[in-house]
Amino acid sequence: MEGGWPLMRGFLLCLPVSLLLQGRGDTFTINCSGFDQHGVDPAAFQAVFDRKAFRPVINYSIPTKVNISFALSAILGVDAQLQLLTSFLWLDMIWDNPFISWNPEECANINKLTLLAENLWLPDIFIMESSMDVDQTPPGLTAYVSSGGQIHYSKPMRVTSICNLDIFYFPFDQQNCTFTFSSFLYTVDRMLLGMDKEVWEISNTSRNVIQTQGEWELLRINKATPKMSVGSNVYDQIIFYVAIRRRPSLYVINLLVPSGFLVAIDALSFYLPAESENRAPFKMTLLLGYNVFLLTMNDLLPASGTPLISVYFALCLSLMVVSLLETIFITYLLHLATTQHPPIPQWLHSLLQHYTSPKKCCPTAPQKENKSPGLTPIHLPGLKEPVELVRKMPSPKEAELNGRPESTGAQQEPKAQKQHLLDLWIQFGHMMDSLLFHLYLLFLASSIITVIILWNT
Ligand SMILES: *[C@@H]1O[C@H](CO)[C@@H](O)[C@H](O)[C@H]1NC(C)=O
Ligand SMILES: *[C@@H]1O[C@H](CO)[C@@H](O)[C@H](O)[C@H]1NC(C)=O
Ligand SMILES: *[C@@H]1O[C@H](CO)[C@@H](O)[C@H](O)[C@H]1NC(C)=O
Ligand SMILES: *[C@@H]1O[C@H](CO)[C@@H](O)[C@H](O)[C@H]1NC(C)=O
Ligand SMILES: *[C@@H]1O[C@H](CO)[C@@H](O)[C@H](O)[C@H]1NC(C)=O
Repeated sequence: MEGGWPLMRGFLLCLPVSLLLQGRGDTFTINCSGFDQHGVDPAAFQAVFDRKAFRPVINYSIPTKVNISFALSAILGVDAQLQLLTSFLWLDMIWDNPFISWNPEECANINKLTLLAENLWLPDIFIMESSMDVDQTPPGLTAYVSSGGQIHYSKPMRVTSICNLDIFYFPFDQQNCTFTFSSFLYTVDRMLLGMDKEVWEISNTSRNVIQTQGEWELLRINKATPKMSVGSNVYDQIIFYVAIRRRPSLYVINLLVPSGFLVAIDALSFYLPAESENRAPFKMTLLLGYNVFLLTMNDLLPASGTPLISVYFALCLSLMVVSLLETIFITYLLHLATTQHPPIPQWLHSLLQHYTSPKKCCPTAPQKENKSPGLTPIHLPGLKEPVELVRKMPSPKEAELNGRPESTGAQQEPKAQKQHLLDLWIQFGHMMDSLLFHLYLLFLASSIITVIILWNT
């Protein structure tokens, strides 16, 4: 037996080749005698290996049918700037090789064998969207070969595919990426593609198998099977539409909530008394803080395009700027009133008379109780300067201010008059402040509602 082996080996080597070259009927049956004693004899498959450069069909006018399926095992990332989706796929391909068949009963009940895939003809099926150099498949993969000649080849792929990304609704966006499986070279009369599994099965498997609990969540997979014609050639293809959704919580927590808080604080800072010197610096600090926030969080935003969230940020920023401008305006108004004592126009006077009686909202709260001009120093807690100013420099402007007929009295009379004027101006300032605050709130509410509505569509 030991001595006879090399001889038998040589015999085995040439026998199947000669059998295969005859090429009719079931003569492609692999002679597997001795598989149970010596393992699989490579010579038995040599004829198949030798043919791997050619499409394995007996009649060349019959197309090879390749059934494909895949499982999406990870969604690694989406690059909005380059419009790329990076994912891991397990691609399954099943086709028939008519040159492989054996009788399992004769062959130690072997139903399936694994062969190194590089020894077999492999269909050139690619994902059209992926760029070839980043379609990374490990070398040295094996394929299952069944006794009926069915070859089952699976490969993991890291696919970086082009995907038309729309980031307008970021971070509440959904993307619809396509994987177009198609043969690169074989036209429909050479290769036909079929589905190995139903598309819902693919979708279900992918959802179960998906490893990453990262940013993207698989929603569903749909398919379409249009033929693609390039010139006179028609190619078979299967298009899978992969719908993925971003998990927004990271962005909600890191972007929307802090931004909302800052705007809320900005809105609340209107309740700081208008005369207080703290209001403008406070708002300035908020503005500065918001800018720092935007700078630090800039990395989280998509690198290209104009998502709605950028509009939202710009809106928040402009609201803060507007509120700062408003504070500057009110401060200027009050300052003007207390230093220059400009005369109050008649219409404004009557307007103030008219509007001071009904209750006002909170910003003017400390002010509105005491309209009587007599109680000067006590009734304005935040207002030290103006009162002092009024006391200090009464004379220079007094003449022109009190040029009216009624201001001809004693020392006390113009002072009271001036105080009344000052109060009216301050009242006007508070009214303006309150009015602008309400406008601000109105704008804030309407813009927030608009953004929310846009995000929900
Ligand atoms: C298979 O090979 C063995 C020798 O290894 C030979 O005896 C047998 O006849 C062959 N079977 C067929 C069907 O050719
Ligand atoms: C090959 O297949 C074509 C189409 O099925 C058929 O017309 C032709 O006769 C076949 N050739 C042989 C040699 O069987
Ligand atoms: C491909 O799928 C079709 C239908 O699902 C089936 O009839 C055919 O046998 C399959 N082909 C292979 C090679 O598995
Ligand atoms: C997908 O799988 C889940 C269980 O993982 C099952 O409940 C559901 O019915 C499956 N979907 C379909 C369409 O069969
Ligand atoms: C993805 O887009 C295609 C058209 O480009 C459409 O036919 C398909 O239904 C979309 N899929 C999903 C899940 O939205």
